[in-house]
Amino acid sequence: MSTIFLLGFMGSGKSAVARALSRQLDLPLVDLDARIEQQIGVSIAQFFASHGEEAFRLLETRVLREVGDEKAVVSLGGGVPTRPQNREMLRLAAGGGALVVYLAAQSQTLAERIRRQPGKRPLIDGQGALDFEQTRARVQGLLNEREAFYRECASFEVQTDERTIPQIAGIIADKWNDVHSQG
Ligand code: S3P
Repeated sequence: MSTIFLLGFMGSGKSAVARALSRQLDLPLVDLDARIEQQIGVSIAQFFASHGEEAFRLLETRVLREVGDEKAVVSLGGGVPTRPQNREMLRLAAGGGALVVYLAAQSQTLAERIRRQPGKRPLIDGQGALDFEQTRARVQGLLNEREAFYRECASFEVQTDERTIPQIAGIIADKWNDVHSQG
């Protein structure tokens, strides 16, 4: 299967790395959050505010199944691996030859990146603006809950803190080319 799934916390660079990889490998680009927004016709932040997280997770799993078989670079939302059925789908995809990559980063780095897009992440600042330390603490709390899930799903991990988007995309493209040259 020729799918590359990018996993990682909010702010780990999934969307930007997916764009770079799709250009580099000449594969179509699928952004799960953007696909969800196309279907619901409002932003994810608005959907969370009016319907809540559980409704979002149901929708997310449905759209994940729709894109799961596409030959593409797929950038996932940071909460995808919190649901067991999503983890199962990613494990099956990896077993079938998909590359599932975890973009890892420290809470400090993630908080800095998340703060550049205020109001976009309902689970971080959906209840009102936070200062830097509050943001970092919120990120750390969720990261502690999720890190094992990211690692459980991923077949490959890239540390992103000290790397640029082209460097990260290059590491993943090399891995992809290695796997494919082995047939
Ligand atoms: C979420 C991450 C977001 C988006 C939603 C929930 C999460 O995507 O799906 O706000 O639970 O981590 P990004 O990881 O692309 O920000």
